Amino acid sequence: MSAKHSSGTRPRHILLGVTGSIAAFKACQLASNLTKHGNEVRVMMTDAATRFVGPVTFDSLTHTATRTAMFPASEYATYTDGFGEARVGVSHIEDAKWADAVVIAPATANVIAKFAAGIADDYLTSTVLAATCPKLVCPAMNVHMYENPVTQRNIAECRELGFRFVDPTSGLLACQDVGKGRLAEPEDIERAIDALFDDDADDAAPMPLRDLEVLVTAGPTQEPLDPVRYLTNHSTGKMGYALAEAARDMGAHVTLVSGPVSLDAPEGVDVVDVTTARDMFAAVSERFPGADITVMAAAVGDFRAETASPQKIKKHGRTTLTLELVSNPDILAWAGEHKRTDGSQVLCGFAMETEHLVENAARKLAEKHCDMLVANNLRDPGAGFATDTNVVTILTPPDDVDHDHSIADIERIGRMPKTGLARLILDRLAALRGANTLQAA
Ligand code: CTP
Repeated sequence: MSAKHSSGTRPRHILLGVTGSIAAFKACQLASNLTKHGNEVRVMMTDAATRFVGPVTFDSLTHTATRTAMFPASEYATYTDGFGEARVGVSHIEDAKWADAVVIAPATANVIAKFAAGIADDYLTSTVLAATCPKLVCPAMNVHMYENPVTQRNIAECRELGFRFVDPTSGLLACQDVGKGRLAEPEDIERAIDALFDDDADDAAPMPLRDLEVLVTAGPTQEPLDPVRYLTNHSTGKMGYALAEAARDMGAHVTLVSGPVSLDAPEGVDVVDVTTARDMFAAVSERFPGADITVMAAAVGDFRAETASPQKIKKHGRTTLTLELVSNPDILAWAGEHKRTDGSQVLCGFAMETEHLVENAARKLAEKHCDMLVANNLRDPGAGFATDTNVVTILTPPDDVDHDHSIADIERIGRMPKTGLARLILDRLAALRGANTLQAA
């Protein structure tokens, strides 16, 4: 998708497409905010959208006639070109050329299906097909329509074609179902529009993980003690989920093996839900041979009860209880032992420490045969489980030529949002894999 951005000497041109959903009322707020914030906004509505909100509302909010029918008065419509001249022509093409960004909010399952298939049977879909600028789609629909594999396939195809998405949020839907399907808030959509304009590099750069298979583990494991209790840890899965989403956005096919977390499954990612360390081991060992890059961000329980009690463990007047635990498989160490020797499989582990960060992490890097290890100290402000940021040290095996006796090459990264850090880690891993495969060739 070519990037066409406002030069900075004129307002940004935003073409807002509104389709037939109850969430169309939120598009009024979005149009109003965008206009107030100095953008020039033109609105196009499908027939169904006009049943929910009148075009006059958008006319007033954007000070421009809202586009509805394909052929408003005659076969040709009159429009004002970029120089203020009145012209006659097929105006959906002019709108497509005028736009710096097309934003579809709300986008129904129907219109997403049309985008995926290239159908152009009304003004909105014809304009989207003709537009070469960045396109942002903000779905809103019933949870079952959203989760339907057909809709998910269409979304994945649109992503492949270069459409960007703002995921819907979860909650009570207008249809009284509860789940994912609510249109994102106008402020969040506006932020995503800003990102379209900030992302010159993203648009231009080739995707560094295009067509690679990326396997990510995330979240905690739960090791049952009896039918009501289990051993676990504080992991929320945020880092692993951020890695899976970043890998997807960088062009990879992503499999996310996830312990129990309360995060939504990322779109366009194959999620395999697991509970125990042994479940996670089974899921990873099955998929690892096909993975080009594997990142293990899960906080795996090291021990489990050898046999969980089939009945609830009772107190029976006891004041102490001794649990006999046995060790779980070390999944990362297994992967390190089984990775291909030609360098075409890159393996990255994580280490959460509370002391001696570098020494402990360097030992894990070597013992588990990792190509990279990302270490964080639970005690650093801005690092840890439930935070949206992290502070990490990246370790790689020492370069023998330069550093004879060092235990690892070390790079300290300052506090960063987990999303940005995910991208940085994957960029490094892509570069490592690139270097390995070049060497092998
Ligand atoms: N890991 C794993 N399987 C395990 C334990 C850990 O795959 N049974 C992985 C984690 O996903 C992480 C790395 O190994 O990528 C380090 O995990 P961590 O819990 O920090 O270290 P441990 O090896 O368990 O060592 P210790 O608990 O002694 O710090």
